[in-house]
Amino acid sequence: MSILPIRLAPDLMLRQKAKRVKYFDGSIQKLIGDMQETMHAAEGIGLAAPQVGIPLRVIVIGLPEEEDIVLLNPQVVRKTGERVVDESCLSIPGYVGEVKRAISIIVKARDPSGKEIRIRGEKVLSHALEHEIDHINGILYIDHLETPDKLRKIKPTKTETET
Ligand code: NI
Repeated sequence: MSILPIRLAPDLMLRQKAKRVKYFDGSIQKLIGDMQETMHAAEGIGLAAPQVGIPLRVIVIGLPEEEDIVLLNPQVVRKTGERVVDESCLSIPGYVGEVKRAISIIVKARDPSGKEIRIRGEKVLSHALEHEIDHINGILYIDHLETPDKLRKIKPTKTETET
């Protein structure tokens, strides 16, 4: 596995709609492994393939003390509720912003072997899923800010919630 360079905004790779994964082959398994390693090395809790320059619908989520979640071709089935959360992104280092996210979410996707799975996310997992699924659609959390003052500069250290 290798650590890949992370694309930073305003890189146009972050703004395109990523393509569906069709083949669950060795090159996808390698990409998944590299993305997990890159996410953990950057101390992020989530990463989408376009952030490492690959325009495919692959996301990984790694919450502290939990097994990584790997989703290919994820689709939101249902979102419930709404709340304001602080979010940051490995592609927008040094900032945190207030955005509205669902309270819980149901997502269907393929696992790395191509099997259809469904997962339900609540709390941090719910907004991490929304954030990463946004990434594969070319959307960044800063697009959801109600006003520019909802974005704050933070010290250039890693936070626990960068995705
Ligand atoms: Ni992000």
